[in-house]
Parts: sequence; C-alpha cells; structure tokens
Amino acid sequence: RGSILHFLADPGAADDSSAWQYFEDGGLLVEDGLVLACGPWGSVLDGVPQHISDAARYFDYRGQLIVPGFVDTHTHYPQLRVMGSWGRKLLDWLEDYTFPAETALADEALAQRTASFFVERLLAHGTTTASVFATVHAHSVDAFFSAAARRNLRMLCGKVMMDRNCPPALRDTPASALDDGMALIERWHGQGRLGYSVTPRFAPTSSPEQLAVAGELWHSRPGLHLQSHLSENPQELAWVAELFPGRRDYLDVYEHYGLLGPRAIYGHGIHLSASERTRLAASGTAIAFCPGSNLFLGSGFCPQGELSASGVRLGLATDVGGCASLSMLQSMASAYEVSQAAGQVLSPWRAWYLATLGGAQALGLDAQIGSFQRGREADFVVLDPAATPELTWRLEGVEALGERLFALMMMGDERCVRATHILGERAFCRSEPQAVPAVR
Ligand code: GUN
Ligand code: FE
Repeated sequence: RGSILHFLADPGAADDSSAWQYFEDGGLLVEDGLVLACGPWGSVLDGVPQHISDAARYFDYRGQLIVPGFVDTHTHYPQLRVMGSWGRKLLDWLEDYTFPAETALADEALAQRTASFFVERLLAHGTTTASVFATVHAHSVDAFFSAAARRNLRMLCGKVMMDRNCPPALRDTPASALDDGMALIERWHGQGRLGYSVTPRFAPTSSPEQLAVAGELWHSRPGLHLQSHLSENPQELAWVAELFPGRRDYLDVYEHYGLLGPRAIYGHGIHLSASERTRLAASGTAIAFCPGSNLFLGSGFCPQGELSASGVRLGLATDVGGCASLSMLQSMASAYEVSQAAGQVLSPWRAWYLATLGGAQALGLDAQIGSFQRGREADFVVLDPAATPELTWRLEGVEALGERLFALMMMGDERCVRATHILGERAFCRSEPQAVPAVR
C-alpha cells in the first residue's frame, strides 16, 4: 500500500495522460512474484477470494511513492573503481583508467567480489534490471550472472569482445570470442531471469572479422541481446572513419555486420546524422541515453528529443564508470540538464517513463518488467519523497503530481530509496518499516 505510479505507454512529447496510472492511496497485489492487480487501495482486493487476502502479507508504504524498479539500460560493473577519475575524455579515459581497471578483473576472486558488491548497490539504488558490460574475461560474466542469480534478478550481461587497439592482456580473438560466447550462452542464457547480451565493446576495438563473429553469435539463438557503443565522442567518430574507410558512417559499420535490430541497444548516440537516426528507427535498434556520463566525460549533449522524434527507441542509463553515480534518479536529473543544454524538452513524465517502462521497452523486456500491468514481474522500488530536509521543504504543500515528480528526480538520490522489492519480496530495505497487521 502506498502512492503508486506506473506507465502503460510512452507519454510522448505531448505528455499524454492516458500513458500512466497514478493511485494516491494505491495497492499492488502480488501473487507468486507476479502482479495480480494494481489500483486504488479500496478496490484492489475486489474479486480476490477471502482466503487469499486473509493469508496475504502486507507492506504498508503509505506516504511513499511506489514505481516499477528502475531499468539501467547501459552500465559496466567492472568500472566501479573508475567512477570519479579525473581529467580525461573518452579515448584517454579508456587507456588511462578503464583498461587498467578491467585488466584487474583477470583475478576471478576480484571479479566475484566486484559483481556481488555491484548487484547489492544496484538494489540499494532501486535498480532492478540492467544491461551490463563485463570484461573480456569469460569468468567476469560467470561472476556477474552468479551474483544476479543469487538475488533472482532480471539481468542482461555479456563478455566484452575486443581484439585490437587495447592492451594485450585485454585482447581476445574472433575465434576465442566465438567459443567463449557460445559456452556462456549455453551456460547462462534463459537460466531463470538471465539473458545473454553479445557485447562487442565498440567498432575501434574489434577487427572486421570479430564484428562478423558478433553477428554470428547474436543470430545463433533467438532472444539474445546485443550491446555496444555508438557515436559518443568526436575523436572516436574520426577514428572509426579512419578504421573503416569503406563504410558510409559510424552506424553503417554495425549495419554492415548485421548488428542492428530489435534487442540491440547502443550506448550514447550523441553525434548522429539524420540518416543514422532514420536507420536506427527503421531497424528497431535502441539507444541508451547516458546523460551523466556524457557530462562527466565531456562527450556532448545527446539530442534525446530529436532521437525520439525520429522514432528511435530510447532507454536511460548511468554508463558507470563514465558516470560517478549508480543512481537512476540522478541520471534523470542529468537527462534534464543535458536536454536544457541541447535545447530539447524533457518533461517529468517522460523522464520517469524512460527510467522504467521506456528502458524495459528499449531492451525488449516490457512483457516481463517495467509496469504494474497484470502478469508483470513484481520488481518495484519504494521512494521516500521526504528523504532529505530540502525535499521535505520543497514539497511541503505541493499537490501537483508533475511538480512533485520533477522535484524528486532533480533533488533525489539513493537516500530516497526506502526499499526495493524483487518478485514481490523485499530485497533491500533502508530502515525497517513498521510491521502492520492484515488490513481489509
Ligand atoms: N566506448 C568504448 N568503451 C567504452 C566504455 O567503457 N565506456 C564508455 N562510456 N564508452 C566506451
Ligand atoms: Fe559504456
């Protein structure tokens, strides 16, 4: 029981109010980990047999906001130690900070500790699903999926493929990437709530032969995902043009190797041409909008409104360690700030949509997660709108939901995450809420 917000569709640029449902005093009824009903508290139990409601356990979150668990559509767990690294832009940041940190995960025990810590911290930030880059080491994927499976999380992850333009210790080959990828898919894809994502790092670090292998792997089984990076930084763009002189633009490199389509998601997409946007949309390829990382690395201001207007599916993402926080609330704030700088409109409705259902749709997981429609998996986060004195002060007497949501995303952070539930069960709790007896 609490105030409940979820989206049924993209509210679009016009903030179509039929796209969301809000219940000021709402109930979310969960059975066997799935949403059975969501509606006003007074009627959510209508039609539910008495013996079921009598046996139910109740979580009383009155005064809190319950939303579907946040979906981080692009992040790197091995980069926890890279967050907040000073003074570099993308390509030097990769060389000087990121590659050394990823090299350290050659140590399998460190990979396991890192993955467990990352998963726990995602839950503490209200993120219940993420599309995650591991390292080039196959065991780094085992470490992540093992940690996610222990918490029964819906997660995507893949072994980074890179066979050139990186330190020798981080290099695989087209053949080893194919063998490792096949074995990992066999071991993990479709196990419980886990899905494998074929993960060529980005065009500059894969040979043409390896990009072909990525396509082969992705199409080897139905339902596999694919993730990479696209058009993040001007030096990167120039380098791609130099490395692939036969391709008409950056997107064409991926297009050429069969790497576009539904369940493919590319981080960034900042400096795209109109033609690239059109081809992304036509192929059903999604972009992970990473505003915090784009600010931190000085990569540019992603024109998210223009991408959406072109029909490109968007998710929101932290891109840790390019971003110094795991918080999707802070990413929503950065999304607004980047949009202001780029002259793009971002309403609170669209920001909350992007962090939940929009991310699920961008990953092709909206039949499972992202909303409280009946039958969806009941992963949700409970947010305290009075978590800080400033928020309390700001929101006192404010009734308008749009204004409350906007202040919460701009001023909120992990301190607002009161609890995170996975398949209905409480998996993280900031401070134990009062136990209440069954209410009917
Ligand atoms: N491009 C290639 N690799 C990376 C990475 O690890 N982070 C970001 N932000 N961009 C990349
Ligand atoms: Fe990234």
